Amino acid sequence: MKKEDITIQKMNENNIKYAIQIASSLVHKPNKAMWFTPAALEKMKLEFNEYNGYIAYLNNNPVGFISYKLKKGNLDITWIGVKEALHNCGIGTRLINRILQEARDNQIASIDVETLTAHHADENYKKTIAFYKSQGFEEFKISKDKDSDKWDILTMRKSIK
Ligand SMILES: CC(C)(COP(=O)(O)OP(=O)(O)OC[C@H]1O[C@@H](n2cnc3c(N)ncnc32)[C@H](O)[C@@H]1OP(=O)(O)O)[C@@H](O)C(=O)NCCC(=O)NCCS
Repeated sequence: MKKEDITIQKMNENNIKYAIQIASSLVHKPNKAMWFTPAALEKMKLEFNEYNGYIAYLNNNPVGFISYKLKKGNLDITWIGVKEALHNCGIGTRLINRILQEARDNQIASIDVETLTAHHADENYKKTIAFYKSQGFEEFKISKDKDSDKWDILTMRKSIK
């Protein structure tokens, strides 16, 4: 896959459906742990309409998405996902790079993202944490998930120089 095969477009009312399709493909199935719960997917559908985001295309086919929320001095990545068959091909990195640009344009000091702690997480989430670490995020804080006692929430932070 060449760098120029991947393009990034701002999320809008026409392409939000692709983010939902990709997210749906990453939802837990009976007997198969994936990444998102059905409840998380419902939350995403609402939030994609509220928040800013980007869609990644590979040769014009939608393959990934990222959404974020701008706060004063801080940017939160709310959701990110890449089609499973294309994991580890550099698409997530391209999406994070676009968000880094967004953060710099808005004079943001740091980017936060919430995930699940490795302690509770299955293998899939260990890979997600490895991905964020590869992007320069560091473990920042651990908090209880008010919706579940099965896992803790890990916030990872990247400072913008
Ligand atoms: C997390 C996710 C978005 C990463 O996207 P991606 O396109 O696979 O990431 P990249 O190909 O850009 O990977 C960049 C780096 O992350 C690390 N990484 C990615 N996949 C990895 C894996 N399976 N195991 C270990 N490290 C991994 C590597 O260091 C990699 O760098 P390298 O290619 O130089 O070795 C993608 O795996 C995904 O959609 N996961 C499911 C949804 C999810 O976890 N969302 C976040 C919920 S909080």
